[in-house]
Amino acid sequence: MKKIKNCKDSYVTMTELVLPNDTNGLDNLMGGRLMHWMDIAAAIAAQKHSNRIVVTASVDNISFSEPIRKGNTVTISAFVTRAFSSSMEVYLEVVAEDIPADKKVHTNRAFFTFVAVDQSGKPIDIPQLEPETDFEKELYEGALRRRQLRLVLGKRMKPSEAKELRSIFDMED
Ligand SMILES: CC(C)(COP(=O)(O)OP(=O)(O)OC[C@H]1O[C@@H](n2cnc3c(N)ncnc32)[C@H](O)[C@@H]1OP(=O)(O)O)[C@@H](O)C(=O)NCCC(=O)NCCS
Repeated sequence: MKKIKNCKDSYVTMTELVLPNDTNGLDNLMGGRLMHWMDIAAAIAAQKHSNRIVVTASVDNISFSEPIRKGNTVTISAFVTRAFSSSMEVYLEVVAEDIPADKKVHTNRAFFTFVAVDQSGKPIDIPQLEPETDFEKELYEGALRRRQLRLVLGKRMKPSEAKELRSIFDMED
């Protein structure tokens, strides 16, 4: 297995058609169904990066600004932005498309964190990631800050240890 991987090694794209059973009383896609599809796409990306079994450790806030209609297609793209020891951040973008009307809308973006585990569920080291494009480099740089924020919010890191967040919150030593 490669020791260093690139974002393109984990790139996944998944398309689903919104069927009646996926919708609410307004014929719009249910948020939970979209999150289920996003979890699957992100898990595949994390597996491709790590070549391991992966589990979802956290999901950053997802907002639903645009309804997605019955009959639309939903295309989810996902790739790993940065690898830490056993955990990795996955970036997702969701595009809804009304194909007959030839209309596409970017509806959501999100970051999920996955942890690679062995057969007994114990976290295991993964290959590091080297970003290539400007966009990948921007996501890579921000990943450390986002990781510290989610670990602080999850009470897994003391705010005083979150060095990358100091500039945002103007924290003192
Ligand atoms: C995620 C899980 C494997 C972490 O195990 P753990 O024993 O707490 O392991 P550690 O404390 O050593 O953490 C392992 C990694 O997970 C990361 N992690 C743990 N909780 C996290 C969280 N809430 N958000 C982001 N990362 C998290 C840690 O930062 C660490 O990353 P690193 O190795 O890259 O530094 C474990 O909590 C688990 O199995 N959770 C359930 C996962 C699951 O079932 N998901 C589906 C939900 S239905």
